[in-house]
Amino acid sequence: MSSPRTSDVLVIGGGIIGLVTAWRAAQRGLATAVVDPEPGGGAAQVAAGMLAAVTELHYGEQTLLGLNLASARRYPEFVAELTEVTGQDVGHRQCGTLAVALDADDRAHLRELHTLHRQSGLDSQWLSGRECRRLEPMLAPGVRGGLLACDDHQIDPRRLAGALVTACERAGVVFHRVWAERLSVVGDRAAGVVTRDGETLGAAQVVLAGGSLSGRLAGVPDDVVPPVRPVKGQVVRLSVPKPYAPFLSRTVRAMVRGSHVYMVARENGELVIGATSEEQGWDTTVTAGGVYELLRDAHELVPGITELPLTETQAGLRPGSPDNAPLLGPTELPGLLLATGHFRNGVLLTPVTGDALAHALTTGELPDEARAFTPRRFAAALTERPALTEQPV
Ligand code: GLY
Repeated sequence: MSSPRTSDVLVIGGGIIGLVTAWRAAQRGLATAVVDPEPGGGAAQVAAGMLAAVTELHYGEQTLLGLNLASARRYPEFVAELTEVTGQDVGHRQCGTLAVALDADDRAHLRELHTLHRQSGLDSQWLSGRECRRLEPMLAPGVRGGLLACDDHQIDPRRLAGALVTACERAGVVFHRVWAERLSVVGDRAAGVVTRDGETLGAAQVVLAGGSLSGRLAGVPDDVVPPVRPVKGQVVRLSVPKPYAPFLSRTVRAMVRGSHVYMVARENGELVIGATSEEQGWDTTVTAGGVYELLRDAHELVPGITELPLTETQAGLRPGSPDNAPLLGPTELPGLLLATGHFRNGVLLTPVTGDALAHALTTGELPDEARAFTPRRFAAALTERPALTEQPV
């Protein structure tokens, strides 16, 4: 790096996706910087941290499943490396997930999911209601059956974000704690950003990893603007007093009258209940209705939660993309790469995203496993988009 204001790689956005990209790039010998007023913030501060490749599978998302599974397989080694580098525990709990049904409709939905698992070669086991309650005695007596996915684990995204900041610092990543206001384009290349302070940060390659805000950076040519939208998720955090832990031994989830609810129980007693899924634009208000629905559905699943202290309510924004899959790698603008649009799978996809972006930054190409997620798949649609309001990321 010739000056702290220029780098080989500049990552816009210091959420977990931007951080893992920066860490992996720096490990490959690239002089790397991150621009973000609060590195380690963003959606990871809200996310529950399910690594749910199996229980969050949807019809039509088989290509995404391949990437999700590739990332899930990488998690143990990724966590071991991160822990060794930083000395920090990131709350990786290899506990599996139990998805249960409370009525006939929800049971039919789970049966469909089980069929999809079998068609996709995934490991999940159908259990009776009694077998579910044997695994999780706090479940409601009315549970009608469930699916045990032994490979869907969990991590604590807040701790993951903190560890990635430390890993980046140890790898020599420079942090510019300021908003990126505008992409700087020189000739036909992305050349850095102009910050809200009016300073220019130059870079040979720029990675836009701004989560739900990725489509709002000024200066990005219209045909390259990522088609990412915010999808609001509200969560509630409860705390299990120590003498009663473990309240749940694994992640428990269900479809209750058509809405998803999940309960992620951490070893430290935190119990995260999530999440709403709302197309509300940039609104991050925690609403009485959102909290009511989460607690009502979680209470039907595990009646004992009403005894627990409520410690936090929050809303965050998932970066949704038109096909629910991420946008990774080079764009049509030379020098600009994307790492965004991870929607419901940002935490799960963190390891594979770091590896894919590091590969792209050093070779100009995505690795085979990530090739389907090129932003170029939306190129035709992008040229038809209306101009976006210019906003900082
Ligand atoms: N993957 C969980 C969520 O997006 O709510």
